[in-house]
Amino acid sequence: MAPVSFLPSERLWSISAGELHYVLKVADDGSLINVHFGGRAEFGESIQLGGHFPFEPGLHLLREEYSTFGGLRFMEPCLKAELPGGVRDCVLKYEGHRLIDENGLSITLKDIGYNLLVDLHYRAYPQYNLVVRWAEIRNAGPGPVILEEVLSGAVSLPRRSSWRMTFLAGHWAGETKIVQEELRAGKKVLESRRGVTSHQLNPAVFFDAGDAGEEEGEVWGCLLAWSGNWKCVSEYVGHDQLRVSMGVNDFDFSLYLGPGETFKTPKMVLTHSEGGFGALSRSLHRFERDVVLPRNNAKKPRPVVYNTWETLYFNVNEENLKRLADLAAEIGVEVFVVDDGWFKGRNDDRAGLGDWVPDPKKFPRGLGPVIEHVKSKGMIFGIWVEPEMVNPNSDLYRLHPDWVYHFLGRPRSEMRNQLVLNLCREDVREYVFGWLDRLLTENDIGFVKWDMNRSFSEPGWPDAPRERQREIWVRHVQAVYEILEELRRRHPNVIFEGCSGGGGRVDLGAMERFDQFWTSDNTDALDRLFIQEGFTMAYCPKTMGAWVTGVPNFLTNRFLSLEFRFHSAMMGALGISVNLLELSKNEIEEVKMHIDFYKKVRHIVQDGDLYRLKSPRTGEFAAFQYVTPEKTESLLFAFTLQQGFGKRMPNIRLRGLDPDLAYELDGSGQVFSGSYLMSYGLDLGIRGDYKSMVVYLKARK
Ligand code: DGJ
Repeated sequence: MAPVSFLPSERLWSISAGELHYVLKVADDGSLINVHFGGRAEFGESIQLGGHFPFEPGLHLLREEYSTFGGLRFMEPCLKAELPGGVRDCVLKYEGHRLIDENGLSITLKDIGYNLLVDLHYRAYPQYNLVVRWAEIRNAGPGPVILEEVLSGAVSLPRRSSWRMTFLAGHWAGETKIVQEELRAGKKVLESRRGVTSHQLNPAVFFDAGDAGEEEGEVWGCLLAWSGNWKCVSEYVGHDQLRVSMGVNDFDFSLYLGPGETFKTPKMVLTHSEGGFGALSRSLHRFERDVVLPRNNAKKPRPVVYNTWETLYFNVNEENLKRLADLAAEIGVEVFVVDDGWFKGRNDDRAGLGDWVPDPKKFPRGLGPVIEHVKSKGMIFGIWVEPEMVNPNSDLYRLHPDWVYHFLGRPRSEMRNQLVLNLCREDVREYVFGWLDRLLTENDIGFVKWDMNRSFSEPGWPDAPRERQREIWVRHVQAVYEILEELRRRHPNVIFEGCSGGGGRVDLGAMERFDQFWTSDNTDALDRLFIQEGFTMAYCPKTMGAWVTGVPNFLTNRFLSLEFRFHSAMMGALGISVNLLELSKNEIEEVKMHIDFYKKVRHIVQDGDLYRLKSPRTGEFAAFQYVTPEKTESLLFAFTLQQGFGKRMPNIRLRGLDPDLAYELDGSGQVFSGSYLMSYGLDLGIRGDYKSMVVYLKARK
């Protein structure tokens, strides 16, 4: 049977996407309700959604698919609109539907009075247990409509008096740490008001009954593909009903929809697993690699990058870059990235942003000689940019002080000494796109790290018509997306890395335009185990940039062995930012050996399935395993944390292998069956604090 089907007698749609089943129905009063979001179930019989308490709307309204501010509705609305004539009541009824193909459906709702139409779009991805939904709001009437809240959607979880919510929270240098909380009443709001996705909270949330584990139990997931202000409201609305709404944040927001205009919301991704958090992540990872990531690079391996940041900071010049590049090539680096500091006047973070020409003192002959040198060593040249920003101390700002977000006559708050360029303005967009396009056209650049190092403040756009001024939260993100898309179209061979002071802009919307992310400015290999564990809850390791950096770590002052640092970083897209000039011969040899090994096995990490065998949060040790889709190769990474009392690490039982295959360990001739490895496990015997090991398993023919 096709994933999407329609039962006319019941006016019921069933979207069956692997382990996720999503069912919608038109109620007797014409409202569209969500009957089911969860595991596979049979529907077709008349559905009972009765239930009524004084002071409560009927249960069916509590499960409305796209709720509004209108009529007897008191929950978080998906849509709050002011219709012509100052009408702030909006009530949507079923108007029609279209089965687009066997995986796609759209259902149209219409306001009972004004010609405001809402198309709800659904696309099923059965192989990933996942449904993507979004809404399109159309003003088909004669007057203006003001949208004060317009979310991507809301889902109704099965009725339960409590749910456990799992989400990713943190701060700069401590992103995506896993947090779990019980929900019983009221609203839990996760959001960003910073103009960007944020380090603090990430738009990926998971729900379970409190009993799901890494590899067992039912888990529901909701993610938003949006890189600006967002909001996720998990709300008990009555009758033990939890609703989860997600979309563009309505804070300081409004959108003017003139006659004939439409607004398309970001996508919301819904998923469900019966195999715990691990299985849910693996489905998401596969979906991201197969569907979300930019197609031109999706199947290619992520290269080993050398990045100059933690070695040279702003102090880059032709001479020191060439010396570093020689060593980088020797150890097996594939892309040599010049980070911050290369452009005019950029000696620290107080000046230069906006003046995107090579600094004449550091590069008297331009970037050409460095690029040629890097290429002559067989590497790709990469460069750092921060296109959305300007330092007040720059030629650009002196010429165009009105090009930043600001309110007339009010102070402009600086963060990292910089202001945000108003990309809602066409002239600013053209300037930004223009210099980026020229940079990539005139130079042989194969990798761009696009950074973004502050939150928005004073979000004014004084030249815009009053009714459009609060659209900046959406227009800025759309502009970033458009610039990236056009750059990618014109320069298809370039790899784009997304960064916002580390992981401040990691989300599925960014992942559609960036090939990988800079996960965190925290490069301490131990802290990274926690950050990376959380990152992989939602996002695939292929996109998880991870560098090996020097000791003591600049942030934590911790000394960890080169081996530990490599093992931690090899679990994603490996990069190096160690001062190679300071390494001993032996260390250079060790670095070479690790990089060489990574290149041989990176397909397992980057395109395989991840099993988070043991969380570092347990405080004892951590273990992560990657398995190729064919189950013929696997990598096990194990790390000790603090090992007190001479306690031995228990055997590590592997997962995801073929029980009937025989696997050879590290090419040693030692062979174990898949079933042995999964039931008895490996006794690694690692002893001591902060020790690590990687084990490579290959099935024998
Ligand atoms: C923040 C990034 O996360 C760092 O990796 C580095 O690129 C600096 N910005 C440069 O200013």
